[in-house]
Amino acid sequence: MSVKKLAVLISGGGTNLQAIIDATSQKKINAEIKIVISNREDAYGLVRAEKHGIKNMCISSKNLTDEEYSEKLLEIFKKEEIDFVVLAGFLKILSKDLVMQYKNRIINIHPSLIPSFCGKGYYGIKVHEKAIEYGVKVTGATVHFIDENADTGPIIEQRTVDVDDFDTPNTLQLKVLVIEHEILVSSLKKLCNEELEVVGRRVIKRDVKRGGKDEKGIDKRL
Ligand code: GAR
Repeated sequence: MSVKKLAVLISGGGTNLQAIIDATSQKKINAEIKIVISNREDAYGLVRAEKHGIKNMCISSKNLTDEEYSEKLLEIFKKEEIDFVVLAGFLKILSKDLVMQYKNRIINIHPSLIPSFCGKGYYGIKVHEKAIEYGVKVTGATVHFIDENADTGPIIEQRTVDVDDFDTPNTLQLKVLVIEHEILVSSLKKLCNEELEVVGRRVIKRDVKRGGKDEKGIDKRL
């Protein structure tokens, strides 16, 4: 099986990027990071990439529409022959055209249990502020494929953490980041090993197929 070529898109500190850098350099994932792209010049994730000798660049989104920005990304993905794109704290919306061209090949990490606390305006610390404000007792993280709307694509993996009485948005963010790193790496591992299959909204393990599926693609044994 070929080693998959990844593009990792970031907007900030890049702790999720670091988890991918560590996992690929320890050969835990059948992939190499070909390029890291940030829409912000000051994103610390660019420094992380540089330190590990990974090609990186800032493409500023200033004065560009989502479509124009995505066109620039698409050009780079094609040039670098990218197999999979990881949105690792990337806070921009991709165009429909880019999403269509890379259908089921772009994944995103989100710091809540989708469909809670997600969609437009829910990003970074805001997600945890809303979870605390609402009073939920569990929250978590989700890795999902990107579709044409915000945070609505098929879910690959989710994990929970408890919200304790003493938690603040900041402590919750730190707890959730730990599990983000874990599920992002494990989802990428399965993706790069070609183990995933999307059936409707469900992401299932490809080898389930061996049992045979009905006309809706559901395993007959289920
Ligand atoms: C992470 O918590 C990620 O889930 C979140 O931004 C943070 C980036 O942290 N993404 C979103 O909120 C997307 N809607 P990092 O730069 O340290 O990986």
